[in-house]
Amino acid sequence: MKNDMTSLRQKLGYSVPIFAFSHCRDVVVEVTRAGGFGVLGASWFTPEQLEVELAWIDRHVDGKPYGIDIVVPGKYSKEAEETTGSLDALIPDEHKAYMDTVLKEADVPPLPEEEHGRLYEEILQVGRNRTASGGMRLVEVALQHPQVRLVVSALGEPRADIVSLLRSRGILVGALCGKAEHAERNLKAGVDLLVAVGTEAAGHTGEITTMVLVPQVVAAAAGRVPVLAAGGITRGSQIAAARALGAEGVWTGTIWLGTRESELIEPFQKEVLFAARSEDVARRRCWSGKTVRMIKSQLSEAWERPDAPVPLQAPLQAVLWNPAQARVVRAKRKEYFSYPAGQGVWDLTHERSVKDVMYQLQLEYAEAMERITAPDD
Ligand SMILES: Cc1cc2nc3c(=O)[nH]c(=O)nc-3n(C[C@H](O)[C@H](O)[C@H](O)COP(=O)(O)O)c2cc1C
Repeated sequence: MKNDMTSLRQKLGYSVPIFAFSHCRDVVVEVTRAGGFGVLGASWFTPEQLEVELAWIDRHVDGKPYGIDIVVPGKYSKEAEETTGSLDALIPDEHKAYMDTVLKEADVPPLPEEEHGRLYEEILQVGRNRTASGGMRLVEVALQHPQVRLVVSALGEPRADIVSLLRSRGILVGALCGKAEHAERNLKAGVDLLVAVGTEAAGHTGEITTMVLVPQVVAAAAGRVPVLAAGGITRGSQIAAARALGAEGVWTGTIWLGTRESELIEPFQKEVLFAARSEDVARRRCWSGKTVRMIKSQLSEAWERPDAPVPLQAPLQAVLWNPAQARVVRAKRKEYFSYPAGQGVWDLTHERSVKDVMYQLQLEYAEAMERITAPDD
């Protein structure tokens, strides 16, 4: 195991085993510069936008390696993949009408026409990312940036052509897993790194807790590839715990939402985040059609009502959800604002810099290791 860890560290050039998933380029850069490994969530960008983000990261990351993350669900709407027309046409009127009624009843105004047009066009394009061909388009952009040393795939094992293309360019391939079975499938697909994502985590999660999942994924990996632990990690003591469970390091997401550099730009969004407790996040299908752990709001809960339509398959539910979310953000309506966040949200109470968070995590990690290895009285 130790050799694997050394080689992962060497290949990816980090000094502390803290991987940070974020949609915000500043977080990716600051984590990487502080000795961790930043991974940009690419699936929310069009290929053109991703090119701009990666070029910016390249310029600011002091020559260090970093990663990107793509989302290609194992099951998605083949119609959405194949259509040359607008994805909008594939969303049933019933779903559009339901979303609109909930927001109208809440007095959340529609977006101004021009803003709606521009945003909707972007959402339709980004919607295409969540199919196999869309994931490949993002990978092709990443290949133009030699500092991208890791591509992580979520929701389904990466396709053989993506794995071999990345491999041929010396780029490591990682995959998120919520079950031991996912680990097996990803190993067969030839991945170099597994991320065991417990149910506590933000975003797409299964039902198994981090504490129970990590040893299963470590056992499935059987020393062939390193494993990272994810889900609920906001303290350095949990990095020590992850290492004790056999993980090489941790993969984190929620903790970065509370930072100064975070993607949550509107102050009201951070107020919602800082007020949320572990019990205020739940797995919901309204965001993407698959279970996403997110902060509950009146909008997310409206999709739990018995009269709500069944959420659509990826990527269509996100195409329906995102403009509604934009309406809520524009109207700054806290009680209707949902966002992916994990149970670790309890530990986010005020804004900090990424540098501070990295420093604190490392300090706590060192203290925890000292405590654990201290001789008994
Ligand atoms: C706002 C947000 C969006 C996310 N979107 C994705 C995504 O697009 N792809 C992905 O692989 N993981 C996504 N995740 C999950 C992270 O990769 C990671 O597994 C998770 O945040 C780890 O658990 P934690 O949030 O408890 O730290 C997202 C997380 C957050 C906070």
